[in-house]
Amino acid sequence: MQIEPILALTAAVITIGAAWVLSFPSETTKRDDEFPNLPGFPIIGNLLDILGPNLKIKVHETKGPAFLRIPGLPRTLVFDDLALLRQVLGRSLPSFSIVGDPLLGLPHGIFSAVGIEHKRLRNLGVRGLSKSVLLAQFEHIKSHAEEQLVKMATENKPIIPTLFLQMYAYKTICVIMAGSDSEQLKRLESLFEPITIAGRGGQARLLPKWLDFAGSIEKGTMATDLVIKTCIEIAIERRAAMEAGKEFSDGLSALIDARDSDGSFLSDFEIASFFFTMISAGLDTTGQQSSTMFYFLANSISQQDLAALRSEVNQSFAMESEATISALPLLDAFVKESMRIFPMIPQGNRVLTDDIVLDGKKVPAGTHIGPLRDRGFLVDNPDEFRLDRFVGDDALDKKRTIEFIPFGMGERMCIGIHLARLEMKVLIATALRSYEIVKGPGSPTFAYYPFKTVKSYVTVKPLKL
Ligand code: HEM
Repeated sequence: MQIEPILALTAAVITIGAAWVLSFPSETTKRDDEFPNLPGFPIIGNLLDILGPNLKIKVHETKGPAFLRIPGLPRTLVFDDLALLRQVLGRSLPSFSIVGDPLLGLPHGIFSAVGIEHKRLRNLGVRGLSKSVLLAQFEHIKSHAEEQLVKMATENKPIIPTLFLQMYAYKTICVIMAGSDSEQLKRLESLFEPITIAGRGGQARLLPKWLDFAGSIEKGTMATDLVIKTCIEIAIERRAAMEAGKEFSDGLSALIDARDSDGSFLSDFEIASFFFTMISAGLDTTGQQSSTMFYFLANSISQQDLAALRSEVNQSFAMESEATISALPLLDAFVKESMRIFPMIPQGNRVLTDDIVLDGKKVPAGTHIGPLRDRGFLVDNPDEFRLDRFVGDDALDKKRTIEFIPFGMGERMCIGIHLARLEMKVLIATALRSYEIVKGPGSPTFAYYPFKTVKSYVTVKPLKL
C-alpha cells in the first residue's frame, strides 16, 4: 500500500480544517467588547441554518445582537429584540441598504443613497407610485390578474405558480409606470429578458461563489446597461410627448413632473434608475409573495376561513374599485397572515455609515447589520394559518406594529407597499371568485436565503357554478 498519498491527504485535511476554524472563530474566542457569534453555530451549522428555518429562533434565544458568519459573506450583526429594532428601524439609522443596488447592477440608487440624498430620491420617487397613479390603472391590474389566472387554469394540471405570478407582477408594474396606452409601455414590456438577466448577474455579484448557481456578472452588467439606456430613451420620448400637450396619468409622467420643495427634480438617469428599480423590486417580491399565498390557499387555510373569505370577495361591490377591495377585512387578514408566516425579505441587510451604540456597545461604521423582520413565530401556535389574528381591534398589526413588519419600517420602509398589497388582493379575490386552488402532488420545498420562499404545486380549476 502506498503511504505517501494517505499522509499527504491527512496533512491537507488538517491544514484546511485549521484554516477553517481560525477564519471562523466560535463563541469562546469572542472579545469582551464584541458581540458574540451565534451560539450553537459551529461553522457548518451556520451554513445550514441560514438556509434552514431555525435561524430566527436561535437569534431570538441569544437575547441580544450576535454575529452571523457565513463563509464568503461579510459577517453580519443580527438581532430581533423589540427595543433594538425600534431603535434601529424606527429612527434615522446612518446606514445604506447593501443588497438593492448591487442586485440590480446599479452604481447608485435609492437603496445605496444615504442622508439628504436618500430623502430627496425617496420624496421624488414615491410620486411614481402615488395613490392617484394606482387608481388610474386599477382596471388594468384586474385584467392582468384575470389573464394570468386563465393561463394557469388552461394548463389543466399541477403547476408551480411563481412564473405566472411574476409575469402578473411584471405586466402590472409596467402598466403602472408607463400607462396602458402608450408607445412607452410596449418598449418597457420588451425588457423582461434583460431585466431577468440583470437580476441573475446581481445574485452572482452578491452571493458567495459556492452559492452562486445562477448568473454571470458580466452578462448582468451588459443587461443593466441596456435596460438603463432604453429607460432613458423612454423618459426622453415621454417628456417630449408631455411638452407637446399630451396628458398621462402614470408613474413615468409623475416622476418627470416631480419637484421637491426646493425645486429640485430627477435627472433622466435618475428617472431611468427608478424605473428599473421599481420594475425589478416589484417583480420578484410580489411574484414570490403571491406564490406563497397560493400555497396557503391550497394547503393551510381552514375550510371555514376559506368559505368566509370566498363569500366576502363574492359580494357584488367587492371588485368595484381600489377602495372597495381595500376595505375587505378578511382579504386583508389573508394577505397579512401569509406575510406573517412567509415574509419574503426576512432580514435587513444594511451597512452602517456612522458609529452607533447598540445594547450599550459601540458598533463601528462599516459593520453589516441585519435586523430580523421575520417575527411571525412569536405568536401562539405560529404554524397555524388563522385569519382572526388580523381581524378587529386586537389585530396583530394594530396592537404591536413591530411584531409584524414584512415591508420594514422607518425611513427605508418599502415604497411599493400600497401597490404590492393592492396587487396581491386583486389577484387573490379574482382567484377566489372564479377558481378553486387545489393542492398538487409532492411535498413543498422551502428556501430561506436570500429570500424566504416556498415552491409547491397547485392546480387552478374553474369553479363549477
Ligand atoms: C410583497 C412585495 C414586497 C415586499 C415584501 C417588500 C419588502 C420590502 C422591504 C422589507 C423593504 C425595506 C428594506 C430595508 O429596510 O432596508 C423594501 C424596500 C423597498 N421596496 Fe419593497 N417590497 C415589496 C414590493 C415592492 C414593490 C412592488 C416595489 C416598487 C414598485 C418596491 C420597492 C421598494 C423600494 C424602492 C425600496 C427601498 C426603499 C428605501 O430604501 O427608501 N417594493 N421592500
